[in-house]
Order: sequence, then C-alpha cells, then structure tokens
Amino acid sequence: MITIEDIAYVRVAVDDLQEQEQFLLDFGMHPVARTDRALYMRGAGTQPVIHISELRTEEFRPAVGFMATSLADLENFARTSSADVEQNAEPGGGEIVRVMDPSGYRVEVLHRPPVDALPLRAVKPSNFGSARSAYGRFNAKAHFERGPSHVLRLGHAAMIVRNCDESLEWYARHFNLKVSDSYFSRDDASRHMVIFVRCGLGKRFTDHHTLVFVDATAFKELPERGFDHTAYEVLDWDDVMVGHDFLAGAGYMHSFGVGRHIAGGMIFDYWRDSAGNKVEHWADGDHVNDDYESWNVPAGSVPFKSWGPEVSPDFFVQRVKRPTPQ
Ligand SMILES: [Fe+2]
Repeated sequence: MITIEDIAYVRVAVDDLQEQEQFLLDFGMHPVARTDRALYMRGAGTQPVIHISELRTEEFRPAVGFMATSLADLENFARTSSADVEQNAEPGGGEIVRVMDPSGYRVEVLHRPPVDALPLRAVKPSNFGSARSAYGRFNAKAHFERGPSHVLRLGHAAMIVRNCDESLEWYARHFNLKVSDSYFSRDDASRHMVIFVRCGLGKRFTDHHTLVFVDATAFKELPERGFDHTAYEVLDWDDVMVGHDFLAGAGYMHSFGVGRHIAGGMIFDYWRDSAGNKVEHWADGDHVNDDYESWNVPAGSVPFKSWGPEVSPDFFVQRVKRPTPQ
C-alpha cells in the first residue's frame, strides 16, 4: 500500500473539444495543450494538468489521476499491482502507473514535477462580527473584478460505482484512503449508498473528501460508467459568486447552488460542461485529519446543505445536455 498525496486530474469524455475548451475557459481554467483527440487544462495552482477532455469513443474509460508521494512509492505501487512504471507522454510528463479499479475506471498514479503557480488576486480579509479586529478589512474596498472564477486545483471526484463498499476496500487497500463520512442504505445497513474518503495523511490536515463513491442505484436514470461530478477549488466565496454571475450571463447550464454542504462544509455551485457533465466550483471546505470524528448514518438523514436552494430535479441525472436550439 502507498499513501496518495492528492488527486491530480480527471479524464472525461466530450463530444466537441472546441465547445469544451470555451466552457472550461469560462469556468476558470487555463489551456495547456490540445490535440485532435484531447484537451488538457490546468488551474492556477502547481499541477501542470487538472482536467483532460477526450473525444468520446467506444473504448473510452473515465480516469482519475493521483499524485504519489515519491518515485519510490510509485515503483512500489507498480510492483505490488504487477504494472509498469512508464514515462508519461502526455502534458505534465513524469512517470505514471496505470491500473483499473473494480468499477472499470482507469486509475493513473503519477510522480511528476510541479509547475509555477499563476498570479492571483489576494484573498481579501473579512469583517465578520467579533472576528473583525483579528481578520478585519480596514480602509480597503470589497471590490471584485467581473469574469470567470479562479480555479486553483481539482479538489475531488464523485465516482458512480457498482458497490461503494467494494470501491472503498480497493482504494483503502491500494492508496490508504480513509473514510471521512458515510451514508448507509435504509434497507440494508451493511451496504453504503455514499462514502466520502480523504487522503490518509495522519495528523496532517487534508480536504474532507478527495473521492466520493456513489451507488449507481441513487440515480433517476441508469448512469454510464463515470463521474457524478468533478469539483474544483476556487479562491474564495466571492470568487464562487463572481464566477456564477459570469457563467449565468454567458448562458451556460446551471445545475444546483449556490449553497453550503454539510459533508465537507464547502460553499458549492454546480454547472454542466459542454457534454452535460456536472462540474462544481467550491471554496472554504473543511480540513480534517485522523482526529476527525466520522459520521456513519442512514442515507437521507443528514440534509444535503446547511443553506441554499432546493436540490434541482436534474441533480441526480448524470449527464444533462442542453437542447440544441432549433
Ligand atoms: Fe462535490
């Protein structure tokens, strides 16, 4: 077993690379490379690539990329999973090991150098009640430029799986992922419907969830193999809202939000990309470590949000395409 440091990227299928690039630019990512078959985008953080769009084919399999802590760990993982360490020929480079998970997702584990972060505006201090004297904004305007959000990094991927417990067993055994919170079936307490897992970094704090396993039966329509959603951290709460206004103004398809989740605590806003895949902007999520007290509760017993609108009817549909204008 090795310990994964963080999630790096996802690989999703789309129908039109040009449309997808325009959406992702407006969503707040930056182009890295584009070929006949694939589009590579980055955030403002130090990962060279956080999002890969591929033209849909019969052979396509969705993939998640993870960062190994060291080259020695990557070699160790290759040995124990009877796979090879290869040179990664895609943008971002480094070394890569490719395996398949029990639900048929490709899992790509990398060791690759970081890139320089892009310049960003400062996160402005806030004047909240009694915290004002410690964190205050004094003689400074709360003014934000209109435009796309500033995507920093991929934060998590929610994977639709045939069995959450099977996925948990596999990812915990290979990558030392830990359960943060979980929701079990009301019909069968031994079967989970949703499990939130994080990187197992011991006392070091990390995101509340890096992967989410979601049981396929939770969907209104039979889902394809693939993500329920992928989620990108942006600068702050104002950045979520500024990006919301920008995407809405550009006529993109909104899914659900803005609100604050209970599991993970982030302020969230969900959109649909050019292929109808659900993508999330988020900010201000919970950081947890091994002292975190997990919940394991019946599905539906904890509200989806602390605040925010009602869940949209399309939220539990995996892919929603905008109707083509006649
Ligand atoms: Fe999410």
